[in-house]
Amino acid sequence: MKIIGTGSALPRKQVTNDDLSKFLDTSDEWIVTRTGIRSRHVISDEKVEDLGAEAARKALADAGLQASDIDFFICSNVISEHITPGLSCIIGQQVGLTCPMIDINCACPGFIYAMDIAQTYFEAGKVNNVLIVCAEEPTRMTSWEDRATCVLFGDGAGAAVFTKGDNMKAIKLNAEPSIDKIYEHRILEPTPFITKEEDSVPLQMKGREVFRFAVSTSIRDINELLAKTGLTIEDADHFLIHQANMRIVEGIRSGLGVPEEKFPTNIATHGNSSSASCPILLDELNREGRFKKGDIIVFSAFGAGLLSAAAIMEW
Ligand code: UT7
Repeated sequence: MKIIGTGSALPRKQVTNDDLSKFLDTSDEWIVTRTGIRSRHVISDEKVEDLGAEAARKALADAGLQASDIDFFICSNVISEHITPGLSCIIGQQVGLTCPMIDINCACPGFIYAMDIAQTYFEAGKVNNVLIVCAEEPTRMTSWEDRATCVLFGDGAGAAVFTKGDNMKAIKLNAEPSIDKIYEHRILEPTPFITKEEDSVPLQMKGREVFRFAVSTSIRDINELLAKTGLTIEDADHFLIHQANMRIVEGIRSGLGVPEEKFPTNIATHGNSSSASCPILLDELNREGRFKKGDIIVFSAFGAGLLSAAAIMEW
């Protein structure tokens, strides 16, 4: 398969570190030094499905396709206001899709997990065109009193349209279940029969352990895929890493020994937008004209699960 269109959409409201320090015991200096984040887009009056639909429409327009040309739609999302139907159906209705559609919740590597599913559908001969939308609002998961967590996130949506082709050179999914590193849970509707203890907690994260997992698995995943494809690190033109934290991205870049210009980032102005971060970055670079035919793009992402994934794709 190959990418023929990209799109993205961000909430209007931008929140700076100084804005946060008005109600949190934090500072621009702490956040920038530890994370590289200076501001983030945060949902205020928008709905995450509207951002997803806008990103999808832009990706379809970029691909020169209509909604009716899409055979399969995968929506990656961790949290939204909707329990059922899935966010795919809610975005699908707005965009005018009538093909089969599914939701996945694979946290931050969701875009690469979705690409792996799409690739399998292409290889099975079941589809001609696939739409992936990653629409996320992680700012609604964190406690805004938890300074170690809420400062990290931003909201947004990214989308890509795929068609037949042999541009996907290799893809790898990895799971190391460890559910106490990043988690959140909530109480469901009460019933007259519930006797078990239940509680509701906002996003909890063991930051340092996640940091170590992210850097080590990303370097390992990328090296494995390069070895599998016979490509060298020098053959790769762009490394699109999940924008979790600038120090994580830097750790991966220096671990691989790649020059800075091959590691584009938008973390400074976007924060961590979970699975939307890779397709938003992809769209921004595409619209800047940074990709030329034949360029090798390496994707790598990691997050709750713990899950990680990587892919090597020719533009
Ligand atoms: O998609 C994957 C998602 N996960 C991530 O991206 C998280 C990866 N981990 C990280 O990015 C880092 O671990 C953090 C940025 C979350 C934290 O950085 P750290 O260097 O590991 O700091 P720490 O948690 O060890 O905290 C150091 C100190 C603590 O104070 P004490 O105990 O030393 O007095 C914290 O309370 O910094 C304090 N602190 C803050 N201070 C000012 C934590 N958050 C803040 C804050 N402002 N926002």
